[in-house]
Amino acid sequence: MIMGYKEEFQESIEKPEYFWRKQAELIKWYEFPNNILSEDENGFYRWFKGGKLNTSYLLLDYHIECGRGDQTALIYDSPVTNSQSKFSFKELLEKVANFAGVLRDNGIEKGDRAIIYMPMIPEALVAMLACARLGAIHSVVFGGFAPKELAIRIDDAKPKILLTASCGIEFSNVIEYKPLVDEAIRISQHPPQTVILLQRLQSKASMKTGRDLDWNELSNRSSPASPVPVDATDPLYILYTSGTTGLPKGVVRDNGGHAVALKYSMKAIFNSEPGDVYWAGSDVGWVVGHSYIVYAPLIHGCTTVLYEGKPVKTPDAGSFWRIISEHQVNTFFTAPTAFRAVKKEDPTAKLKDKYDISCLRYLFLAGERLDPPTYEWLKEILEIPVIDHWWQTESGWPMCSNMMGLEPYPVKIGSPTFPVPGYNVKILDDEGESCQPGETGNIVVKLPLPPSCLPTLWNDDKRFRDSYLSKYPGYYLTGDGGLIDNDGYVYVMGRVDDVINVAGHRLSTGQMEELIASHPAVAECAVVGIDDELRGQIPVGFAVLKDGINISQDQLEQEMVTIIRKEIGAVAYFKQSVIVSRLPKTRSGKILRKTIRQLAKGEDVPAPPTIDDPAILKEICQVMESCGVGSFAPKS
Ligand code: COA
Ligand code: AMP
Repeated sequence: MIMGYKEEFQESIEKPEYFWRKQAELIKWYEFPNNILSEDENGFYRWFKGGKLNTSYLLLDYHIECGRGDQTALIYDSPVTNSQSKFSFKELLEKVANFAGVLRDNGIEKGDRAIIYMPMIPEALVAMLACARLGAIHSVVFGGFAPKELAIRIDDAKPKILLTASCGIEFSNVIEYKPLVDEAIRISQHPPQTVILLQRLQSKASMKTGRDLDWNELSNRSSPASPVPVDATDPLYILYTSGTTGLPKGVVRDNGGHAVALKYSMKAIFNSEPGDVYWAGSDVGWVVGHSYIVYAPLIHGCTTVLYEGKPVKTPDAGSFWRIISEHQVNTFFTAPTAFRAVKKEDPTAKLKDKYDISCLRYLFLAGERLDPPTYEWLKEILEIPVIDHWWQTESGWPMCSNMMGLEPYPVKIGSPTFPVPGYNVKILDDEGESCQPGETGNIVVKLPLPPSCLPTLWNDDKRFRDSYLSKYPGYYLTGDGGLIDNDGYVYVMGRVDDVINVAGHRLSTGQMEELIASHPAVAECAVVGIDDELRGQIPVGFAVLKDGINISQDQLEQEMVTIIRKEIGAVAYFKQSVIVSRLPKTRSGKILRKTIRQLAKGEDVPAPPTIDDPAILKEICQVMESCGVGSFAPKS
């Protein structure tokens, strides 16, 4: 029987084991799991315990066995190096099996960790799948992170090996990766024994004898490795994401639940068919890149596109349209910020007219709120469904979406539509009571979470419990605030914790505050995510100086910018910090960050009833005005 959205959702909530057993039957197992849903010794839910599979087999060998071997699996398109290449499933398997052989020859076995710090090149994907082939656990670190951040991840994951390349390319800037890797290893407590480095033509890295090995030399003398069966509950990867403190959270993804949920998503949400061309314009360093550049399209037998370029200036704001047309992309997925960048440079989308993009059936957007002006612009220039969908690193796949392969519903602007089957989304107030339709509260998901969602945090069951499960027993706390309207549409209004979203990148203001507070001149500080037309939000620091300190606004700002860039990385996009005499606080001492955010929008904000000293709001406004913060910035 073909079910509509509502029936399918109902079944997934009322009979989760029945529902997910059906979905599990759609992938190939070495041993089918008889135990669909269980609890582990910590009381955490686990999917498909006892099942045995291999994720790299599912993405590659399986399709070749089914006769898809000559179909293109991967298209690499790199305007920054002026190159393109294509790999069939057979060719990609050859590369992955061979590199898995390299890893095996270097002592990597099931359960070992490998850090991958690489730009958007095919070898990044090969490295991920080679780890998966051996049952080794990869942890990809986004190239925009500084050595300190890389070192934090190394120390938490304790990898045996680190895989990297000599450089990345940002627009026309060649970013040397090797000095960053060397520095990260120097400051880490648990350095990897081995580094395997791919020398790119744009830059040649110097190698450390005894530790660093050349990717191509090893590959030339390797032999292919076979897929190693792993348990469904064995980790496939760890992906670090920003929490509210300086320590990122190591989100664990297991093999079985991940494969089943991603396979389900490709048809039910994206309405993709095997053989389609699917392009996620993201980076393999983020969850969108993991799930929808690498794993999901290939599990489903689609062709995936790996784009080493930007929405604009590589070479122009027509890049998206060129790629869609040239590679006959059927489904495109990116972050709204990317289209805001395109719209800024090409407001009437005239560059689109140079290309035939009739192949494109859907545009999906996620990573941050799809703001109504961007949605409306896209609807004006495109004649296809434009779908907002909401999810997070922790889930690994969409939590709310309009389900294109199940039953499309009318769009309500500003809403990612309905909970995806498996996600029993609710809105609770701070006391844990259910909110009424239309009433804003904390977005939570009633347990059990569906397959692919994090079973725990790497080596930190306590933090997993404290961060996500303790506030509302029986529910998973998403960290987002929002509402459900009378028709059941979910609206996600933004984070309710110290996490911000800068150009689709998730960052911790708490972590930035810890760094700024370490400056000898600073008595206390707040970092607030201020609305930004292009990036959605940008972090701005508000610092109170220690008594008797004499430092200029410009000097302090410069030093703050340097600290954040050095310690977190350029990706934080921290460019502004202002000196204030006090921070607005409640009488109990809580900093009123939301009020600062509203003031920066230029809103006439009434002083909150709990504020200790309303006069400070005027001063904050004056400082923002004189320093050009938020809506006070000079118009470009
Ligand atoms: N390696 C090294 N540095 C990187 C990097 C990487 N992979 N990615 C970004 N950076 C650097 C940039 O070079 C820039 O440095 P700068 O301050 O020295 O110029 C800084 O980090 C900020 O980067 P970003 O905010 O991305 O700005 P941008 O001007 O390079 O690009 C956009 C702006 C909107 C085009 C870009 O952010 C974008 O495409 N965003 C989409 C994000 C996305 O796909 N998110 C995934 C979720 S779907
Ligand atoms: P990340 O873990 O980096 O993918 O970031 C997840 C966070 O991004 C979520 O918790 C939301 O705050 C935000 N987010 C992602 N997609 C959306 C969306 N469609 N609408 C609103 N917020 C979103």
